[in-house]
Amino acid sequence: MNGHKVKVGLMGLGTVGTGVIRLLEGHQDDLKQQTGVQTEIAKVLVQNPGKERSVNVQSDLITTDPYSLLHDPEIDVIVEVMGGIEPTLGFILEALEQGKHVVTANKDLMALHGAEILKKAAEKNCDVFYEASVAGGIPILRALVEGFSSDRITKMMGIVNGTTNYILTKMSQEGASYDAVLKEAQQLGYAEADPTSDVGGIDAARKMSILSTLGFHAGMNLEDVSCKGISEVTSEDIEYGKKLGYVMKLIGIAKQDDELIEVSVEPTFVKNSHPLASVNGVFNAVYVYGEAVGETMFYGPGAGELPTATAVVSDLVTVVKNMKLGVNGRGMVAPYKEKKLKKDEEIFAKYFIRFIVDDKSGVLSQVTKTMADYDVSLEQVMQQPYNKDHKAELIIVTHSSSKKSIQNILTQLEMSDYVNEIKSFYRVEGGE
Ligand code: NAP
Ligand code: HSE
Repeated sequence: MNGHKVKVGLMGLGTVGTGVIRLLEGHQDDLKQQTGVQTEIAKVLVQNPGKERSVNVQSDLITTDPYSLLHDPEIDVIVEVMGGIEPTLGFILEALEQGKHVVTANKDLMALHGAEILKKAAEKNCDVFYEASVAGGIPILRALVEGFSSDRITKMMGIVNGTTNYILTKMSQEGASYDAVLKEAQQLGYAEADPTSDVGGIDAARKMSILSTLGFHAGMNLEDVSCKGISEVTSEDIEYGKKLGYVMKLIGIAKQDDELIEVSVEPTFVKNSHPLASVNGVFNAVYVYGEAVGETMFYGPGAGELPTATAVVSDLVTVVKNMKLGVNGRGMVAPYKEKKLKKDEEIFAKYFIRFIVDDKSGVLSQVTKTMADYDVSLEQVMQQPYNKDHKAELIIVTHSSSKKSIQNILTQLEMSDYVNEIKSFYRVEGGE
């Protein structure tokens, strides 16, 4: 910081970088009132310097040389909104090595290399903030770290991927197929040309590993998150769920019972009365249950130029305030609890199972016997004819059961001679 000016090196001038420039320009007076200093973009790193931009940036600020930012002694803060793992990780570690504070929106990087980056930051007394990496414009990381610091969080459930929420909302409201809605979402620019990490649940899993690390104070890795995407969800499943009072969502669940942790991302039937059930379209929401506070929910845009930029610029404001107070790098609390993950027999939930059986006497009793053998009791049962071929479609919702029992039951049903096909099974949440 030089007198009344903080200089920022901006890495990336795409969707989020453009929003950062707009906010810094448009809100400069307010930001100056809050921090007492002028925040100035000193250099902007891009890949294609000749590209037309939708914001005015002086051409002499644009560079393709990362070291002209990283090794500029006048630059105090690096704002990284270029994305990706390489070369970005190297740039961020070098920025910290040079004593520069870092603000990033990069969930991929923080989920995979967050521990290494935060360790380096602590060694160098530097700040690293990454609010925009989870749920875009919703200030959920700050809420976990500061707002809930006096409480013990036992459960977080997140709709943290806008693309999949848009697809499932459309399938649910219009009865359209997964393939048709995905294609439309790509044409409208909601889904990326390569939507693999969104529809496969990996983007949400990265965000859940960040949320669970901060919420449970344990160092969670991406491999600790069990992950299933939405590509096998059918409109038939969604319709049966509706009849039973549920809506289909891709839900990230992080739960802690007696210090044992489970984190998963999977298509889940959510009871209509649950606060997450009405989160539709590209919106995100994170439901947090604290032992003392009870139920809370944070809702808003999970992506987009200006919403995401608000999170980035707010982080920047915190860095600047810390600089004025001389406390950079001191506010971060490293994970201090041992990570103890649940086994499948310790993970409990209700489950929806849809399968085709022979429509003859005794079949239902054999199904319920198989369930009883694994101590699983039924909450709801629905049966209807299937293809008029002496077959029936059975849809059941269990009471809370262990994941292990459900796996065993599915194996038994598949091996039996009266079950023709297991169509689908999903975790069920809400309505307890
Ligand atoms: P984007 O639109 O693709 O922009 C990326 C920018 O980085 C571009 O300006 C590009 O330069 C530059 N860039 C990429 N690789 C580079 C390299 N190797 N060297 C120099 N410059 C490079 O990306 P975005 O949507 O703004 O996302 C940025 C980050 O924010 C990502 O980590 C993303 O996950 C995260 N995020 C995005 C959103 C969102 O709504 N978009 C929401 C939350 C978090 P050119 O312009 O010259 O090509
Ligand atoms: N691809 C992400 C989504 C963007 O669909 O939510 C925000 O991280």
